[in-house]
Amino acid sequence: MPNNSTASKPADRSFVYLAAVFAALGGLLFGYDTGVISGAELFLRKDFTLSTFALEVIVSGVLAGAAVGALGGGRLADLFGRRKLLVATAIIFAAGAALCAAAQSPQILVVGRIIVGLGIGLSSSTVPVYISEVAPADARGWQVSLFQLAVTVGILLAYVVDFAFAQIQSWRWMFGFALIPAAIFGAGMFFLPESPRWLLRSGQRESARATLARVRGTADVDNELSEIERSLAHAEEKGRLSDLLEPSLRPALVAGIGLAVFQQIVGINTVIYYAPVIIQSAGISSASGAILATVGIGLVNVLMTIVAMRLIDRAGRKPLLLTGIAGMAVTLGLLGLFFRAANHNGALAWLAVISMMAYVASFAISLGPIFWLLIAEIYPLKIRNSAEGIAATFNWGSNLVIALTFLTLVEQLGPSWTFWMYGLCAVAAWIFSYYFVPETKGRTLEEIEEFWRMRSAPPTK
Ligand code: BGC
Repeated sequence: MPNNSTASKPADRSFVYLAAVFAALGGLLFGYDTGVISGAELFLRKDFTLSTFALEVIVSGVLAGAAVGALGGGRLADLFGRRKLLVATAIIFAAGAALCAAAQSPQILVVGRIIVGLGIGLSSSTVPVYISEVAPADARGWQVSLFQLAVTVGILLAYVVDFAFAQIQSWRWMFGFALIPAAIFGAGMFFLPESPRWLLRSGQRESARATLARVRGTADVDNELSEIERSLAHAEEKGRLSDLLEPSLRPALVAGIGLAVFQQIVGINTVIYYAPVIIQSAGISSASGAILATVGIGLVNVLMTIVAMRLIDRAGRKPLLLTGIAGMAVTLGLLGLFFRAANHNGALAWLAVISMMAYVASFAISLGPIFWLLIAEIYPLKIRNSAEGIAATFNWGSNLVIALTFLTLVEQLGPSWTFWMYGLCAVAAWIFSYYFVPETKGRTLEEIEEFWRMRSAPPTK
């Protein structure tokens, strides 16, 4: 017998869209606060007469803060709930932005950047989990990818704001602008509901049911509620991180950490943080040409992320991942080639810029959104947030290593070999994804848990 209550009244999904959009603002702040430094750098150096090392500390303070925030974020969100932690995160973002904007010394600026970094780390480990827990299974891919879209919009916004305030040479406004999205994010999270899965896990069954009915737009949520309860039953005892070492979960651990590291060692942030410098060294000497090309790269990043979101629940995660990573390997190879010749030939410099755009486009349909999506999907509920925090920490740690070594590598090896080295990492990323990354399209989070259990179970006769 068909269930009439669902047949007669289609679920109203507007609320879940709203929840996903507001939560994704945490991603916008992540993108904005990492991207903003590329334009602020020039003016900071002038106002504070900074050494290169001091500048590197200001740039990487955010990444170090993010690594710590991501590690603590998992536990905190399990303890206090996703929503409360995200409200606190918005306050941290705002405090960090205000401190940076008002800083009277480089030391204060570094403290401000570390605080902003903590906010980024907390949001990067909690927002995707929150969205994945409120989204329905058939829309989870694109809804969680809203986070990545917001990251790319944040980066583009930072490029544009940097460009605007460059006219009045004000790095303070560049940093301070982040107060606006932080306030909207905080206000939004204050009014949004807690994740129903987290409520159920912390014994608040009635609130869980009410919230689920609200986010699903239908009172008919019994099946889903019992499915979540079943997955919780597998976790009677509190999940411990050492559970990840159990044979059934080890593959999930490997997939999450592997993708975390590969997402960074293919070199994406050398382009995101240093685009104008790279473009100039390819032979386009005009500053306005370099900035324009940078905005172009930011735009390609946003547009291709939208393309990925349209495909992710239909084509599946894995085909996109493999196609995009292959594209990155090829474009990195070309980038290295064009760099070799570019300095002597203006046309080749533009070819180098076009390869950079194609490289960013390939990232945007693959490792960009799919890493953050998979780490929100592949872990069992009992340890989901902590495990995601670990993957995010590996991601920020690798990001830090690449950001700190890129300029030195270029000095020592030259740009061509540096990009070819990232290209080799892309080849390794492809092989890794082929063998170690599961397809999660269309499965509920509970079915994914079951998948890992079945995979490791001894075969029955
Ligand atoms: C990565 C960031 C990167 C951004 C670029 C994100 O998925 O984690 O490190 O800057 O994509 O769009």
